[in-house]
Amino acid sequence: MDQHLTVINHPLIQHKLTLMREKGTSTAVFRQLLREISQLLAYEVTRGLPMTTRQIDTPMETMDAPVLDGKKLVLVSILRAGNGLLDGVLELIPSARVGFVGLYRDEETLQPVQYYFKVPESMGDRLVIAVDPMLATGNSSVAAIDLLKKSGATNIRFLCLLASPEGVKTMKKAHPDVPIVTAAVDKCLNDHGYIVPGLGDAGDRMFGTK
Ligand code: URA
Repeated sequence: MDQHLTVINHPLIQHKLTLMREKGTSTAVFRQLLREISQLLAYEVTRGLPMTTRQIDTPMETMDAPVLDGKKLVLVSILRAGNGLLDGVLELIPSARVGFVGLYRDEETLQPVQYYFKVPESMGDRLVIAVDPMLATGNSSVAAIDLLKKSGATNIRFLCLLASPEGVKTMKKAHPDVPIVTAAVDKCLNDHGYIVPGLGDAGDRMFGTK
């Protein structure tokens, strides 16, 4: 994947995203839409994966058929909202390995602090796809990618549903080697670090915590 930012303008993705943005959309429908949209996004973020061939027998003859090459890729959920994207992507790539990064924001320093980190072995040999629905300030995304690089990952992609221009800029500065795939880049961030027009708090909307 060469481009640093890919915005997927597919009509199905854009339609589903509009339904998710609407404040009247219920938790159940929001979750269902997120599952559907994450599968469509997964299709794009896995574009260009290395392939090899395997000899198989069809009912008609033997052929060398294309299959994914290399070690199983890793999906890394940035907790907690990342789990909403993770579920749908895993349905499309069921053999993927899964990691988790937990970060909270220190209210004094406003910097992300790690509280959980668990990833599979051999990170350096795998494609790593970090998932978080909202790329807002970019601070926690940058910190999560820092941790993944420390664990040995060298081939990382970042998948989100919505991004802010500020978040994209912050990620590009810190991690220019990490391509971002998203459904939309919105207008801006508000004073509380929320994406505008956005969809509100993605975690609250998918888990029904508000
Ligand atoms: N996290 C969210 O859930 N929503 C935003 O708009 C920004 C960060």
